[in-house]
Amino acid sequence: MKDLFATCLKYQNNQLLILDQRRLPHEQHWHQCESDDDLVTLIQSLAIRGAPAIGIAASTWIGHLADSGASNDELIKSIHKLRVARPTAVNLMNYLDQMLEAIEQGADNIAISIMAEALFDEDVALCKLMANHGAALVPDKAKILTHCNTGGLATVGMGTAIGVIKAAHEQKKQIHVWVDETRPLLQGGRLTAWDMQQAGIPYQIICDNMAAMLMGKNEVDMILVGADRIAINGDFANKIGTYSLAVLAKHHGVPFYVVAPHTTVDKLCADGDAIPIEQRAADEVRGVSGNFGNCQWTPTDAPVFNPAFDVTPAYLVTGWILDKGVFNQQEIDAGALVR
Ligand code: MRU
Repeated sequence: MKDLFATCLKYQNNQLLILDQRRLPHEQHWHQCESDDDLVTLIQSLAIRGAPAIGIAASTWIGHLADSGASNDELIKSIHKLRVARPTAVNLMNYLDQMLEAIEQGADNIAISIMAEALFDEDVALCKLMANHGAALVPDKAKILTHCNTGGLATVGMGTAIGVIKAAHEQKKQIHVWVDETRPLLQGGRLTAWDMQQAGIPYQIICDNMAAMLMGKNEVDMILVGADRIAINGDFANKIGTYSLAVLAKHHGVPFYVVAPHTTVDKLCADGDAIPIEQRAADEVRGVSGNFGNCQWTPTDAPVFNPAFDVTPAYLVTGWILDKGVFNQQEIDAGALVR
């Protein structure tokens, strides 16, 4: 397989290397992926995260196994193991199902590794398309609020919502970004802040519960978020906290856009009720652990509810910024997500 380079992962000298996002922004540590189980652990512990990035890590690994001479049975077993590593982000299933179908239709190992390369290159191209469509909607001097992390750490290209922000910045628009810190795992405070700093984009971090106040003071001109799975009626799942931003945006008359490639659409999901929501460990909410120390501030064994995502209903969305253009509710109702 050819070498592939992204911010969050690289394939080099026949090795898949993952930038460990648990250690960012303070440490850049590359983890060499050694096995299916290794990659499942990296995905589940959010060493690699973000819907397209998870999917491309898995498809690149399958391409690597094919390139290393794995049998069809071995490839299929690996696909089944990886496919269920995280339940909400649908790119993982979409890419792996494509590979499974190809194997079942007789594709050989060379074809599977070429497919892995093509999926990687496609994500890079889709990000550019979304960024260009979205940047046209960003007014000069816009104050943009974003949630979670949707840039080069969450895709293998320039990103979804952050891709739009970067393109607007490259077009010399004087933007300011409000970065939601994104409790409980702080993808905003750790990763989006890092992205903004790397790109030289003016930003300020806010706690998630500060967004309403900013909108009430007319300090937010638009909201841009990514998606982990979009149903065909336009409802979509994204990082927990996205739904409350959409409600607040509607109340304050702030345009609310979701930015996602067609690879994040689930054509089998009629609406948001059909999207499975990942529940995560209680300790993520009880305190912090891992690279940032170990501290629990709740009573020991405090009961916790920890859904990783919520669903934003389509009626709260101003526009869907997709790789094939920007769509409104009428166009979504007319089938824009299934064509
Ligand atoms: O739990 P995470 O960090 O994988 O959640 C990521 C998100 O919710 C992103 O907004 C989404 O994957 C879109 S990223 C292009």
